[in-house]
Amino acid sequence: MEKTFLMVKPDGVQRGLVGEIVKRFEQKGFQMIGSKLMVISREQAETHYAEHKGKDFYERLVNFITSGPVFAMVWHGDQVIALSRTMMGKTSSLEAAPGTIRGDFAVHTHLNLIHGSDSPESAEREISNFFQPHEIIDYDKNIQPWI
Ligand code: TYD
Ligand code: MG
Repeated sequence: MEKTFLMVKPDGVQRGLVGEIVKRFEQKGFQMIGSKLMVISREQAETHYAEHKGKDFYERLVNFITSGPVFAMVWHGDQVIALSRTMMGKTSSLEAAPGTIRGDFAVHTHLNLIHGSDSPESAEREISNFFQPHEIIDYDKNIQPWI
């Protein structure tokens, strides 16, 4: 079992897509174990996107992610890191396939609705950047093996 950090970005919150996005991960069989609506500080955004510092899209990215509320989440499940990336769709708007969150709802690469951790290491780092340990509730959902 893994944990991952997922976040509906400001465009998704403002477009009213939080429910749609949460629904997809619930229906897949994953378990939400933490969530909150929050406005990210510039410092948190710079930590979160440190790997992109210096790239041409970095300033726009940090400005965007701090521009309004995001819906930050921690999800739990078998292979949730890789599977949630598949469900999100590719980063590039031209490559995000229909059926994925980005493919179904996003037109622009820089307004692509959702963030998801890309490895166990980034999941751990990102969860601790946005959540206190007591905000994560790893409850028994009595998941049956058919999901
Ligand atoms: P990245 O970590 O490469 O993508 P992902 O979100 O799929 O892990 O990039 C972080 C965000 O930066 C991405 O979601 C949107 C933005 N971005 C751009 O605006 N232009 C770009 O060319 C790239 C690669 C990313
Ligand atoms: Mg990334």
